[in-house]
Amino acid sequence: MPEVTLTTLQSLKAKGEKITMLTCYDATFAQVASRAGVEILLVGDSLGMVLQGHDSTLPVSTADMVYHTASVKRGNEGALILADLPFMACATIEQAFANCGALMQAGAHMVKVEGAAWLADTIRLLAERGVPVCAHMGLTPQTVNILGGYKVQGRQENQARQMRADAIALEQAGAAMLLLECVPSGLAAEITQAVSIPVIGIGAGVATDGQVLVMHDMLGLSLSGRVPKFVRNFMAEQCSISGAFAAYVQAVKDASFPAVEHGFNA
Ligand code: KIV
Repeated sequence: MPEVTLTTLQSLKAKGEKITMLTCYDATFAQVASRAGVEILLVGDSLGMVLQGHDSTLPVSTADMVYHTASVKRGNEGALILADLPFMACATIEQAFANCGALMQAGAHMVKVEGAAWLADTIRLLAERGVPVCAHMGLTPQTVNILGGYKVQGRQENQARQMRADAIALEQAGAAMLLLECVPSGLAAEITQAVSIPVIGIGAGVATDGQVLVMHDMLGLSLSGRVPKFVRNFMAEQCSISGAFAAYVQAVKDASFPAVEHGFNA
C-alpha cells in the first residue's frame, strides 16, 4: 500500500471513497492489517480493556501508549498511525505538548483526543506545532463516569445541535479529522456533510467518511462476552485473520458495513 498521509485521507473524502481504520496495538497485527489495506491503524486506549483487562480505559498511561505506538510503527507497512492521548493526558496544555511529543516521537502520525469544543484551543496550539489532531466526539469512553455508562450520545435535539456546532468549531480550530462514537446515524450524516475534514464513525451509521472497529471485536474476541450492537464478526466469515481484515476493508469500501442494524436511531 502506498504510504497513507493526511492528504490521502482528504482526497479519499473528496472522492467519496470510504476510509478504513482498525485498532492495532503491536507489530505483528500492524503488518497484517496494513498489508490487508487498512488505511489507519488506531493505537487506541481501548488497549486498557482488550489487552490489559481493565473495565475501562482510565488506567491507561501515556507510557503504555508510547510503548504500543512504537510497537505498531515497527510492523506497519504504509498505514497512517493514529495514537490516543489517554485519560488526563491533555488536562493542561503543557501536558498535551509533552504527551503528544512522546507519541509523535514513538511513531504516531496523528493523535486522538476525546472531547468537544472545549478542546479548540488545545487543538489549535497542537496543530500550530506540527501535531495533527483527531477529535473523538459522541460517546467518549474516558468520561464514562460523567456520562453514567456507555450510552448513545446526541439523541436529544439540544445535544444534537451542540454536537453539530462543536464539530464545526473543532474544524475551524484546526482539527484534522473527527471520530464519532455511538451517535444516531442521521446526526452523524449531517455532521459529515457539515465539515470538510474526514469523519470516521463507530456505531454512527454508514454515511460517515470511514469506519473504525476495535480489532478484537471484529475478530470475535471478547473478555466480557458483551458484543456492542455496532460490531460485525468478520472472523466468523473467514478462516484467517488476514482474510477477516481484508473482508472488513472490502465491506467498508463498498458500504455494506455498517448495515442499518449496526446503527442507532435518534
Ligand atoms: O480506543 C479506541 O479503541 C477507540 C475506538 C473505540 C474508536 O477510541
